Amino acid sequence: MDKVGIDTLAIYTSRYALDLSVLATARGVDPDKFRIGLGQKMMSVPAPGEDIVTMAASAANEALRDINLNDIEMLLFATESGIDQSKAAGLYLHKLLNLPSRCRVVELKQACYSGTAALQLANCYLQIHPHKKVLVVASDIARYGLGTPGESSQGCGATAMVLSVNPRLLAIEPEFGVLAEDVMDFWRPNYLHEALVDGKYSSKLYLTMLEKSWQQYQALSSRQLQEHDYFCYHIPVPRLAEKAHQHLLKISDCTVSQEECVKQAGRALEYGRNIGNSYTASLYIGLASLLDLANEELSHKRIGFYSYGSGCVAEYFSGIVQPHYRTVLRTDYHRALLAQRTMLTYEQYESFYQFRYVEDGSHQIIPPHQTGLYRLVSLNQHKRCYEKVAPTLAAKPTGMKAKPTNTKDLQAQETTKCVNKIKVFAPGKLILSGEHAVVYGKPSLAMAVNRYASATVTHEVRPQVLFDLADLSHHSRLSFNALQHLKNRIKHKYHRFIRGDFSIREVLQKPFELAQYALGILADAMNLSLPHGVKLHVQSDIPIGCGMGSSAATILSVMHAIYNFLDKPISKEELFRLALEAENMQHGRSSGLDLRVALQGGCIYMEEDIIHHRNVPDMPMYLVNTGSPVTTTGQCVEKVAPFFKSTQLQDEFAAVTKAMDQALRQQSWQAMQSAIKANHQLLVNIGVVPEKVQHFIKEVEAVHGAAKVCGSGAVIGQRAGAVLVALEDKTALMTLCTQIGYNVVPIAGEMRGVHAA
Ligand code: HMG
Repeated sequence: MDKVGIDTLAIYTSRYALDLSVLATARGVDPDKFRIGLGQKMMSVPAPGEDIVTMAASAANEALRDINLNDIEMLLFATESGIDQSKAAGLYLHKLLNLPSRCRVVELKQACYSGTAALQLANCYLQIHPHKKVLVVASDIARYGLGTPGESSQGCGATAMVLSVNPRLLAIEPEFGVLAEDVMDFWRPNYLHEALVDGKYSSKLYLTMLEKSWQQYQALSSRQLQEHDYFCYHIPVPRLAEKAHQHLLKISDCTVSQEECVKQAGRALEYGRNIGNSYTASLYIGLASLLDLANEELSHKRIGFYSYGSGCVAEYFSGIVQPHYRTVLRTDYHRALLAQRTMLTYEQYESFYQFRYVEDGSHQIIPPHQTGLYRLVSLNQHKRCYEKVAPTLAAKPTGMKAKPTNTKDLQAQETTKCVNKIKVFAPGKLILSGEHAVVYGKPSLAMAVNRYASATVTHEVRPQVLFDLADLSHHSRLSFNALQHLKNRIKHKYHRFIRGDFSIREVLQKPFELAQYALGILADAMNLSLPHGVKLHVQSDIPIGCGMGSSAATILSVMHAIYNFLDKPISKEELFRLALEAENMQHGRSSGLDLRVALQGGCIYMEEDIIHHRNVPDMPMYLVNTGSPVTTTGQCVEKVAPFFKSTQLQDEFAAVTKAMDQALRQQSWQAMQSAIKANHQLLVNIGVVPEKVQHFIKEVEAVHGAAKVCGSGAVIGQRAGAVLVALEDKTALMTLCTQIGYNVVPIAGEMRGVHAA
């Protein structure tokens, strides 16, 4: 049988990276946790315009440098960051690389494992088509929620391997150990942009499956551990790969010095330490790292490979480094790639993270950033459009000295960005605990949810603002002068509310005035005078007046969209300050909590204005809409104010919020239910839970659940807005709601704060 395996190998990663010490500072974590605890120094961050196709194409361009393209008869694209449910990402690549039309192109998925599946399938193909070559690419963007434990294990990258008979780099040996098990350690449903993960469980499985796949491989190959010279592991975080190697040594009764251990497995981790997880690509980025960084001669050495893909499939296999491997290494190219990345500030990282490609078929021009040789230029009618990049912006090929990039370059490019249309989303929220008490400086716990207000800004020829507020069926045109006048009028009424002349309901007379006021204060703050006008289209699927932060989300989406449209920088704090001014017109004296949640996303615990990020609760919770209350939040706050003169009541609210926070951190279902019940009782005591809603909550408690009003509740009438229900028995809840005539709103936590589409 002919030898088959890897003939050439090249990697690619984004031109931008975040030093994990910057992330540690932003998250209030000891930098050593990432540096030592995870073994991770940096993570590559994809810029807008860089996706799995562009990364794969850049890597493949390099891997194909001395290959006759007509020999490539198959292109296997391994990824778990797919951009289309039907069309294979490889087809874009096929065109960008000018591959022959006689070519089998397909995309493969099984979490991080599918790169290995592609490699093994290609080897089988080559056994019967020995004169052909197969291009295997693996390309991924590892993305977890901001502030979640997975965040520090993000990254992105691609590998491209040309596989052939009699390969120049590495011959794959025929024996392998492979196992599949149906487990839920890491997954990403189609509708989510971030992976869900049970971090500790996944790490445990990674080690368990290593042992099992190794034992199977060993039984089939009869090879001892000592017969392997080097080891490459899938690298979710380098520390786990180090632990894996120690585990393999231990179960094989091998003792080696620390120095020998680093030599065996450490050099394969170096690129990964600086790139982060790149899922399917990471094992083969490890191979490139080992081959590039080992100074000693590797010819005829055996490398053991451990491939793990959550869900899960694990495979252990081995390969022999070929005698002329050095002639096909892309070491200089790889070194330049890693050395010449632009380091991001935390704010830049977050703005790249928050960038979203449109999902409504509109025309989106992607702002230019540094990429490799290819970039995503635009989306239109749900189609992606790629182009080859002008050489000044692309990563330089081997041998050419690339111009170092810095933040200035980044900013210079950003000022040239062409914006015709901006769409921004801001999430709604649920207060889990602490409503009302938060106004008196007591702690609160709130969570962003997957309901959004969106604001779309486009050019208008006439120098006016055209308001198109879809949910309110409101269309109007205001000149900038009229906007200024309106803002002053509303502000004047607000001062009279503060003096006690007016109720808060008299400040904004019509719901559409909120968006107009928000734009008015923004125009003032920016000293806005435009040669042209803007059209502002606002739409929301957050139920209005139900305590779900609809006004905060509307204000933030409008403000953020205008700033983005005009390409003006604004800090989060400044945005918060301006938005709070608008929010006060609606709620009187806003605590700012709704705005904080819509701004940051995720789950936050706020105490004395200090914000702590928490995991989104992983518990069966539902939202029941009891209908819009007759009274506004402002009126409720006014009405309950006398109760909060009692410090004892304030302390009771604080204690219940702390108990819920503790329950959340421990993910304790029982403690969570107890805290919800206690919270409900306090809200009943201050008179914001109508009798009908109290009756419903009693019924929920009778079927072993807990429920509470989320938001200000109501001081008149029978409707109290959103009610949070923590109940395992969904059928019982549906029955109760049908009986009483309430809607159950499907809801999930949203990790993203206000963000451009
Ligand atoms: P975490 O909660 O961030 O970290 O989770 P931790 O609290 O477990 O701490 C990590 C280590 O840092 C610990 O060491 C701490 O003691 C240490 P260990 O006990 O593990 O030896 N530490 C410190 N060390 C020095 N100084 C300090 C300090 N503080 C703490 N001050 C985890 C880490 C990897 C679980 C998380 O990042 C995560 O959930 N990541 C995503 C999931 C993942 O990567 N799982 C790995 C296996 S699954 C897999 O490989 C498949 C995957 O690639 C996906 C696919 O297949 O598609 C993910």
